[in-house]
Amino acid sequence: MSGLLITWEGLDRVGKTTQLRLVADWLRGEVREVVTVREPGGTPFGEKLREVLLREADAVSSLAEFLAFAAARAELMETVVLPALARHAVVLMDRFIDSSVAYQAFGRGVELDVVQTVNRAATRGRMPDLTIWLKGEPFGDSEGVDRVEGRTPAYFRRVEAGYRWLSEQEPERWVVLDARQDPAVIFEAERARIRQILIQKGGDPR
Ligand code: TMP
Repeated sequence: MSGLLITWEGLDRVGKTTQLRLVADWLRGEVREVVTVREPGGTPFGEKLREVLLREADAVSSLAEFLAFAAARAELMETVVLPALARHAVVLMDRFIDSSVAYQAFGRGVELDVVQTVNRAATRGRMPDLTIWLKGEPFGDSEGVDRVEGRTPAYFRRVEAGYRWLSEQEPERWVVLDARQDPAVIFEAERARIRQILIQKGGDPR
């Protein structure tokens, strides 16, 4: 089986991390190697940038913010993701390139062309095989306080519009799931789709 790249996208706190863990636990019994990473982060450099970005994101200009996300992404791809895919691993990513299109281009107005060009450079053109959009309200059930100051409901609506646009551009890559469903129901839908892809790719899902 060749390497497989699966990404989760959506507004903050819709349950991406929980779903990624459920899928990782299941896949570990199905395939030889599963690698899980999050963006921004996943490398020593990326985790340092994550700290700065989650604390101060909107305090810096939108372009500077995007380039910092992209720097973390380039390092993660070069040192972790691309080598894992070359070993034929299944790589599960908590956010990826589409977060920058949704949050920085649609959310904060960075030119779409710039985001897409830099994304392509940072990833060396490797696109996800499957992207799961957990569509739902920001903050899930939690207290509703945003970690990054200055992000308004209007901002999150623009981010959501970005995800909608992306999923319409490449419907074969995207699976859109209602994040308000029971996590077990969401997981079953993900599992069915991933099984299909594994079969297409010549994997051996039991
Ligand atoms: P999370 O990993 O807990 O979802 O938090 C990451 C935050 O960073 C979230 O608010 C989305 C934001 N983000 C961007 O704005 N652009 C990006 O490219 C990435 C990867 C994340």
